[in-house]
Amino acid sequence: MIIEWQDFSNRFSFPSLDNMRIDPWSSSTYQDYARLRDEFGIDEFSEKHWNELPHPHRLLRRGVVFGHRDFPVILNCVKQQKPWAILTGLMPSGKMHLGHKMIIDEVIYYQSIGADIFIAVADIESYGTRGYSLRETKKLAVEEYIKHYIALGLKPERCQIYFQSKNQDVKDLAYLLGKKVNWSQMTATYGFNGTTNMTHVFSPLIQTGDILHVQLEKFGGIRPVLVPVGVDQDPHIRLSRDIAQAHRLYNVMKTKDNQIGVFIKPDDLVSKLLDVAEEILADIGFAKLRRITDYKAIYIDDATEEDITSIDHSLALIEPQFHGYGFLPPAATFHRFMTGLTGEKMSSSKPESAIFLSDTTSDAKKKIMQGKTGGAVTLEEQKRNGGNPDVCMIYELMLYHLIEDDKQLLEIYQACKNGSQLCGHCKKLASELIETLLTDIHEKRNNADQVIDQYVTKE
Ligand code: TRP
Ligand code: SF4
Repeated sequence: MIIEWQDFSNRFSFPSLDNMRIDPWSSSTYQDYARLRDEFGIDEFSEKHWNELPHPHRLLRRGVVFGHRDFPVILNCVKQQKPWAILTGLMPSGKMHLGHKMIIDEVIYYQSIGADIFIAVADIESYGTRGYSLRETKKLAVEEYIKHYIALGLKPERCQIYFQSKNQDVKDLAYLLGKKVNWSQMTATYGFNGTTNMTHVFSPLIQTGDILHVQLEKFGGIRPVLVPVGVDQDPHIRLSRDIAQAHRLYNVMKTKDNQIGVFIKPDDLVSKLLDVAEEILADIGFAKLRRITDYKAIYIDDATEEDITSIDHSLALIEPQFHGYGFLPPAATFHRFMTGLTGEKMSSSKPESAIFLSDTTSDAKKKIMQGKTGGAVTLEEQKRNGGNPDVCMIYELMLYHLIEDDKQLLEIYQACKNGSQLCGHCKKLASELIETLLTDIHEKRNNADQVIDQYVTKE
């Protein structure tokens, strides 16, 4: 049975897009996800992306992950059992709540289907943009995030959690890659101005270092990398993809007159790079090659547009021999944000809007009891006309976190709409489920101390 998950996209009025800019540091959330996708050229994440994955995660099945860039490249790796990696980051500021839990739920799922896992603690970013000291961010990261990640089931095998400020490879890359970005690009993307502090200005380059360093040989080499994030991070994804591309030696593309061509970007080593490309293209099965040295190009007459990604990947692999990086453009998925229980943004600064992983079960239950529902004003009216699960925070909680079985969730949705189930019933169920979830997390978190060293990269 395929469930059409309701479209949340028009739930609330749409906050301004700030002259078509997504600001990763603002506190606004975005509600009109379909429009965001269109404005920024994010592709829709749909059933065809998740239905070929093994035991697809509920956040993928239910439209919470609503957009992607290059996800098919990752899907291909999964299907062909080729190596790929996940890199994501956590911003240590405030306590970890259910909104933050989504990313790690996704990461744990991807770990279960074979990804190498890298998690950056964004301590430099937090220092530069939020004013936390490195010491404070370290404590928050360990106590609030990493221990909960372990409690939620992250495994230590092929998993590294590191601090930006302690990772020399990330910092080196940030400096070196910055060469191909200029100030106009940074101000256009992020709205920086004369008052922006320089650590803040530099933080997107550190994030690019995070995202791309996992393709250095030391960290597993050139391979597809998926960056699961909230959609507010898309500017960093675009920057990282642009920078990866800008540092490539080969460019594989379809020309205006519909030919598939390999072009050499630098001006030195041209004939050597063309020789090597010819060899590789022949090796991977292309026979109709036309080399035009003056154009620094090889046209491949027996290739189609579908071949571009794999040709590009094969050529990338030899770039390190010519002092290139060969970075493949990072793929990304984007998830929706959780609405707070109060109906506004879920935020650490409004404790009643969020359920924190460290909340006592009785506090969490209280928040659920007081949560905003889509129920009618009177019981009679709700029995007659039904409720509205599409604007109900309790339903959202069940959809994102509490109910694993699609069929059970759909029954709740329908029973709400037809008035046969009332809000008290849902709140009671949600309270029971949150109690089970939190009790389990609290128990496992207590044991995390003993194993944390297996996850965190030594300084
Ligand atoms: N900027 C991210 C945030 O605000 C944190 C982050 C740092 C990150 N490095 C990253 C996210 C790399 C994804 C990939 O939450
Ligand atoms: Fe929400 Fe349940 Fe009430 Fe419907 S019945 S509005 S799903 S709490």
